[in-house]
Amino acid sequence: MSEDLIALLTGYTGESGKALLKELVNSNKFKKIILVGRRHVDYTDNEYKNKTEQRQIDFEKIDDYPEAFHGADTHFCCLGTTRGKSGVEGFRRVDFDYIVGVARLAKQEGCKHFHLLSSQGADSHSLFLYNKVKGQTETALTQMSFERLSIYRPALIMVDRTEHRPLENFAQTIMRNTIQRIAPEWITTPIDILARAMYLNSFTKDRPSIEILDNHALFRLSQQQTFTTKEQSQATNKS
Ligand SMILES: NC(=O)c1ccc[n+]([C@@H]2O[C@H](COP(=O)([O-])OP(=O)(O)OC[C@H]3O[C@@H](n4cnc5c(N)ncnc54)[C@H](OP(=O)(O)O)[C@@H]3O)[C@@H](O)[C@H]2O)c1
Repeated sequence: MSEDLIALLTGYTGESGKALLKELVNSNKFKKIILVGRRHVDYTDNEYKNKTEQRQIDFEKIDDYPEAFHGADTHFCCLGTTRGKSGVEGFRRVDFDYIVGVARLAKQEGCKHFHLLSSQGADSHSLFLYNKVKGQTETALTQMSFERLSIYRPALIMVDRTEHRPLENFAQTIMRNTIQRIAPEWITTPIDILARAMYLNSFTKDRPSIEILDNHALFRLSQQQTFTTKEQSQATNKS
């Protein structure tokens, strides 16, 4: 049965966001997905067109856009950049300031369950910039008193990325041919597993109000059997 929930997704144009959006569009549990970002995407698929509503904002003036965050029960945040792409300050600006700003407005506008895509190694005391900023963002969000806050810490996300990132591509090639074959859950996270786990976690019950899901937890969660109505009927039709 459809549950008529409304999701809001930030970072929908990125690789993780795109994979998660696919899960959400194919789900009967969410009747609408609000996409808040800096650019419009022309979806050709009818399901995407019918189920999504796009709201463009300027993240530098995020406080001017509270209404963009209105009307969602659940927020999935897949925002982020890299130091290589945006420099040290740019990385901090997106991965801390923007995400904290987004979470603050989401809370203010009634979001009950906030999902933060963070990273393995997040630690506010780390000597490494990436891990430190990720940890600081997690800490800031834990102080916002969401009814439920789920923090995901994937390892290296395995995806055929649209954007050219030579170092990441190199790391992925090495991983695919070595570690992923021997111990897949150790330092890699296939993108489908990440997206599936984030989606399914929206419906897991009796969880703590603040939870941190490491890579092993993501693999376990992604294998949970929670059929949506659509999936259930497809399974029934096949049998
Ligand atoms: N890649 C990995 O292996 C890995 C591993 C662990 C954790 N993570 C974390 O997971 C999250 C998502 O990663 P991903 O690889 O899916 O990211 P991605 O493909 O680079 O996508 C990033 C998203 O953030 C948006 N964004 C970036 N800079 C922005 C800006 N200045 N203003 C507005 N929006 C901006 C992008 O919008 P545009 O499309 O408009 O640029 C895009 O929607 C990040 O926080 C990342 O640190 C990644």
